[in-house]
Amino acid sequence: MNIKDLLNLKGKIILVSGGAGNYGKCIVEGLAEAGGTVIIASRNMDNIVKTVSKFREEGWDVHSMPVDQGDHDSVVALKVAITKKFGKLDVFVNNAVSRPMKTYNDPIENFAESMRINATGAMDILREMADLIEESGGGSIINIASMMGMFGPDLSNYEGTNMGIPPPDYFFHRAGIINLTRYLARIYAGKNIRVNCVSPGGLFNNQPERFLENYNKKVPLGRMANNDDIKGLMVLLASDAGAYINGENILMDGGMHA
Ligand SMILES: NC(=O)c1ccc[n+]([C@@H]2O[C@H](COP(=O)([O-])OP(=O)(O)OC[C@H]3O[C@@H](n4cnc5c(N)ncnc54)[C@H](O)[C@@H]3O)[C@@H](O)[C@H]2O)c1
Repeated sequence: MNIKDLLNLKGKIILVSGGAGNYGKCIVEGLAEAGGTVIIASRNMDNIVKTVSKFREEGWDVHSMPVDQGDHDSVVALKVAITKKFGKLDVFVNNAVSRPMKTYNDPIENFAESMRINATGAMDILREMADLIEESGGGSIINIASMMGMFGPDLSNYEGTNMGIPPPDYFFHRAGIINLTRYLARIYAGKNIRVNCVSPGGLFNNQPERFLENYNKKVPLGRMANNDDIKGLMVLLASDAGAYINGENILMDGGMHA
């Protein structure tokens, strides 16, 4: 098959949770540009409707649906809505993240709230959407984790800034998602579902100058990720071009941990 056909996402129904967020928008853009029909699902409908109308002006086939992944009924309602409107699901990008914990000494209740959404909720939406993909004849699941799920925090990045110490829950649930990827790749063996993970480094988002200075000098490419950097990986893993990649975690950090 021609590589252009292998990478083409035309006819694929793709769900991106948290698709109006920072990395989410880049992911949606890449998948839509490659021809996919992309559903953005998130809690804040105002925000996703705005994002969707902007994407539609570009001529892309992008849709919005509400979901709170911390609420099982809401997750099931999303599954029903996708089936009703599109009749199937081919790809799920599990990208949403909630950040109730801000630093190390936050109350432990904030850690528990984080687990409710980022561990229990993530498992719930993954299992429900995997079932839908299975009913649709198979497809691809892409978890978005983080390099922070693979390594401890480099506290020197925050020196001279007022950004504080990064919160522990994030390191816990991002690491969990990476190994859950391997678990699910085994569970869905024989069901034509591939499960992979991408662990990105930091996305440039006008961070404080001192942070950028600290961070960028540790990256062989000398910069944070830009809005295009994640697109290629998403299209590869969502498409038939990635048909033999399964159970993998791909670190995308500009070489920071080389
Ligand atoms: N931004 C970065 O620099 C960076 C770096 C590495 C990895 N990541 C990863 O990228 C992914 C997205 O992160 P981001 O920084 O773009 O986040 P973000 O905060 O910009 O967006 C997160 C999205 O998730 C949604 N969300 C939160 N709670 C939800 C819930 N209960 N139900 C449904 N949706 C919910 C939010 O509404 C938002 O749209 C995460 O997996 C994160 O770990 C981000």
